[in-house]
Amino acid sequence: MPSKSMPSKSILRPSRRSLIKGAGAATLATTIPTGWAIAQAKPLKLGLMLPYSGTYAKLGENITLAVELLIAEKGGKLGGREVQIVKLDDEAKPELGPQNADRLVKRDGVDAIIGTVHSGVQMGIHKVVRESGTLCIIPNAGANAVTRALCAKNVFRASFSNWQPAYGMGVALAKKGVKKVAWMTWDYAAGNEAGEGFRQGLETGGGKVVQELKLPFPQTNFQPLLAQIPSLDVDAVAAFFAGGGAVQFVKEYKAAGLKPVLTGSGFLTDGTLEAIGAAAEGMETGLHYGDGLDNPKNIAFRKAFKDRTQREADVYAVQGYDSAQLLAIGLEAVKGNVEDEAGLYKAMRSAKIDSPRGPVSISKSQEVVHNIYVRRVEKGLNKVIGIAVEALADPGTGCKL
Ligand code: BEZ
Repeated sequence: MPSKSMPSKSILRPSRRSLIKGAGAATLATTIPTGWAIAQAKPLKLGLMLPYSGTYAKLGENITLAVELLIAEKGGKLGGREVQIVKLDDEAKPELGPQNADRLVKRDGVDAIIGTVHSGVQMGIHKVVRESGTLCIIPNAGANAVTRALCAKNVFRASFSNWQPAYGMGVALAKKGVKKVAWMTWDYAAGNEAGEGFRQGLETGGGKVVQELKLPFPQTNFQPLLAQIPSLDVDAVAAFFAGGGAVQFVKEYKAAGLKPVLTGSGFLTDGTLEAIGAAAEGMETGLHYGDGLDNPKNIAFRKAFKDRTQREADVYAVQGYDSAQLLAIGLEAVKGNVEDEAGLYKAMRSAKIDSPRGPVSISKSQEVVHNIYVRRVEKGLNKVIGIAVEALADPGTGCKL
């Protein structure tokens, strides 16, 4: 693979990112004086670090397909540069996160990463991109820390924080007067942070999470936990599960004929309805997206996604599309020159994304600000029936940028 040339600006004052891209770059800098003109002619290397296997595989696929859709809609170029995609299957395995991210940055020399889905894997990516200075846009993983105490100027999230949708659903149930709830989840950052957000939301109306039931990710041995529910005396069970695990969980919950209503973060029923079938009908959940959102962008996006992929769009596709939209906004502002970090980040921070989910802006901690909707499953669609919280920003606690 040919070595990378460097922009002339970097020859004078190399950024952390350009230094990390390999020893060959320093030699080139002295022998090729044409700088930015040559760099601009080269494709922008975009790393997609996502799960393409395991329980979150479909999430990674839909993010990828939507990133590719946005790039195709822009004629294959962002900020005037061709985009070359490098895909890496992170398998949703946190223990492989740092080495996989390191491969993309050091071996493949990517200019930016869109990744990933699993909060634990995100922490591995975060360590690497904070050290290297590589631009990272998060298309799903909600790990709170990356836009709170560990926030970084080169890391933006286009999806949600784990706190946001669960807090919104907690508020919605509190407004309905729901008092006693059990929280059920995989025992890792996404489920636990969502649980904390849900508890805070529910408490706004005097409700309480009276019991937490957990199993390790990605296990699906739900029966011992479901067996405890009849003795809990709760009005509702709220849950965080996603992907293949959510399909199995909802089916087993409904098959068990349990009395407490099943609700939670909308990941339970997003991208899963076809596989769950009738068991999901009538379920109400909270999320920053709903299939039937009646805005022109959503209608156009869902059609374009279906035409190109023969799949129905879901929240993961929306987040992939918005990650690419955010990248496009940044790159257009600096005409593809990723080395102009100040210009790139300034444009991304002030981005107003025309998202299929409705209006999206970026907070000071570089997190999306968006509506959290209440959705009800009707005829196999997550139909929006109300707004739980409008323009909800994550608290961004501890972030200093
Ligand atoms: C997470 O690990 O952050 C996550 C995974 C799937 C859906 C939502 C959040």
